[in-house]
Amino acid sequence: MPDYTVTTTRYNTLDTDNLTTLQSYILAEEAEHEGASGEFSWILSGISLAGRAIANKVRRARINDVIGDFGDHNVHGETQQKLDIIANEIIMRCLGDRADIGVLASEEGETPTILRSRSDGGQYCVCFDPLDGSSNIDVSVGVGTIFSILRNDLEEVETAEGLILQPGRRQVAAGYILYGSSVVFVLTTGNGVDMFVLDQSLGTFVQVASKITMPHEKKIYSVNEAYIDNFPVGYQQYLNWAHANGYSARYIGSMVADIHRTLLKGGVFLYPPTGKHAKGKLRLMYEANPMGFIMEQAGGSALAGTQRILDIEPDALHQRCSVVMGSSREVEHVRRFLEENGDH
Ligand code: AHG
Ligand code: MN
Ligand code: MN
Repeated sequence: MPDYTVTTTRYNTLDTDNLTTLQSYILAEEAEHEGASGEFSWILSGISLAGRAIANKVRRARINDVIGDFGDHNVHGETQQKLDIIANEIIMRCLGDRADIGVLASEEGETPTILRSRSDGGQYCVCFDPLDGSSNIDVSVGVGTIFSILRNDLEEVETAEGLILQPGRRQVAAGYILYGSSVVFVLTTGNGVDMFVLDQSLGTFVQVASKITMPHEKKIYSVNEAYIDNFPVGYQQYLNWAHANGYSARYIGSMVADIHRTLLKGGVFLYPPTGKHAKGKLRLMYEANPMGFIMEQAGGSALAGTQRILDIEPDALHQRCSVVMGSSREVEHVRRFLEENGDH
């Protein structure tokens, strides 16, 4: 039996009458919301198309020349992989012509791209990490795409970055696509968490689980423990406590893959402040916020130190934050040690 619980499992190869595609799911969801115009579904279908296109590139890595460094650095000073650039271009193309998107912001772009003003119909802003875990691509480890959708309804903001800088609790949708042993699309629109798998034969995502509830507790921690000497003391004490209490460690090194496992099997995923990254390595707007939204919607918790991630008021598109997210009981154990040591 899986650790997670679902209220329905609609996709059954013996009963194709129950087959729900991502597209039909989105349309059905929208029909339930009075006044919904259908435009939101265009964004999600654009992300779905981009995900299928990126999955094809990932699947053909080494057959096509997509492995290795692009020979440049992104805004964070990190080496860009060829697939970082390819994935970014695919998403920009797939979302660039969606009439209701006002602003697109990517990990790979220094500043957001303004597509159109709100008065011209740009109702939404989309922040994304086109390829998460991309340094793992050379060794065929799971990588992913993460996205966060915000409403573009702020008054009196003069810059595109100003439109984007909203706390995570204002997200209207968030999700990720994991290019793993199967291609998995996990989505929340603030009404629980649903999961779809790419059916290669149909060329579409089909629903495999709805209203996922993650395990409340599980003795698994997921952290790059090699940095332990540089973690604040509260994290060190938590890890010592976990060692003494029968915990297992699981760390893939791709946030999407580590979060997906945490969502389904439970446990806690951490990226604490380190000597190299004093505020943590992960990015708030397109890594911590969307994943935090998913964790909370599945019944888990998501903190930066002791603060709720979704309540952070951002001040820069590419700002970093520390991350403690997963099963609520496990997050609470970490929080207790941070609190006791004043590690906020
Ligand atoms: P990205 O490939 O988008 O830059 O993200 C990499 C991130 C994330 O996927 C992962 O959790 C983390 O880097 C791993 O960092 P360490 O190698 O320091 O453990
Ligand atoms: Mn990333
Ligand atoms: Mn990335």
